[in-house]
Amino acid sequence: AEVDVDPTSYDAGDHESFMRKEMLEQPAAAERVLRGRLDERFGTAHLGGLEMDPRETRAVRRVKVLGCGSAYYVGQMGASLIEELARIPADAEAASEFRYRDPVIEPDTLYVAVSQSGETVDTLLAVQEIQRKGGRVIGLVNVVGSAIARECGAGIYLHAGPEVAVASTKALTNMFLGFSLLALQLGRVRDLSVADGRRLIAGLQALPAAVEEVLAQEDALAAVAQRLAEAESLFFVGRVRGFPVAREGAQKFKEISYRHAEAYQTSELKHGPLALISEEVPTVAVVPDDELTERNVAALHEIAARKGPLVVVTHPGVDLGGLDVVRIDVPHLERELDPILLTIPLQLLAYHAAKHLGHDIDKPRNLAKSVTVE
Ligand code: AGP
Repeated sequence: AEVDVDPTSYDAGDHESFMRKEMLEQPAAAERVLRGRLDERFGTAHLGGLEMDPRETRAVRRVKVLGCGSAYYVGQMGASLIEELARIPADAEAASEFRYRDPVIEPDTLYVAVSQSGETVDTLLAVQEIQRKGGRVIGLVNVVGSAIARECGAGIYLHAGPEVAVASTKALTNMFLGFSLLALQLGRVRDLSVADGRRLIAGLQALPAAVEEVLAQEDALAAVAQRLAEAESLFFVGRVRGFPVAREGAQKFKEISYRHAEAYQTSELKHGPLALISEEVPTVAVVPDDELTERNVAALHEIAARKGPLVVVTHPGVDLGGLDVVRIDVPHLERELDPILLTIPLQLLAYHAAKHLGHDIDKPRNLAKSVTVE
């Protein structure tokens, strides 16, 4: 059986849909997940719910994130953040696949189950598989007292508030922030300096206002979305930090606009998918201002040479080499926080494409808010 939340049990107020309401709530939701958890003095995070003392935190040798759908993609963002800040090998895997490959459960690995609803059965069964083999698993969960939260016993609540729209937005942003807090704590018991810890904290404190800035571009994004909605098929591309952003952008787009949207690593285009690029197939490219910008821009030239229309989500000051593209700039805080700010415009693109096409945005066909069957 699939559990469907009755939207009438919540109040969308004057908003035309829950998804739009929830997107606009992101700055306030972001403040809630950070509240009381940042320690500027020591440049770290306080996460009492983890129930791990510094010795145990230091003993973690590997981090494995498990989630489904968008939670898996944000889990990829989170794993990279942990690896970067704490220098612990970390990766994410689809929870729906995990236990079918008879995974090796390591005693010094910290397993992280990430879920908005806390009821996704694939994620719950992955948690039970880890526990059955004696592994330690914590939850990054939004719904208090949900099955995954109870099963894990320890973790980080996301405090995003009720999320009704099937397409997850504010819960995902708070998942990313939950991972940032976890990365800070894991990093600061290792080699992350207090200065770097404080730098990240300043970025996190500035994040809600930066999200607001992106949301303020809604009208411009709506116009772009209407053009994208005309295409039958689209690419979303990004590299390294930008790739899970592309995956989440494509997921959101296909979920509610019912257009074929495929995510690819920008670097992999030339190994196959470039054959599909034409005037009819637009590409949404994630091009942060980082060590890969030049390579990303070179790939955009390859797409432009095949007449592929381009929408580029980037940072102010990035030189796109005179290409004829639709450009969307998002604020640049700390590089580690780039993925979440680059994701926000992709939510708005999906939303306005679906609206333009006249779809039921909060309840897309064939999907349920929480998938409680395998
Ligand atoms: C997100 O927009 C999707 N509806 C879907 O991928 C979702 O993220 C996934 O089913 C996981 O749900 P959960 O976070 O409640 O576990």
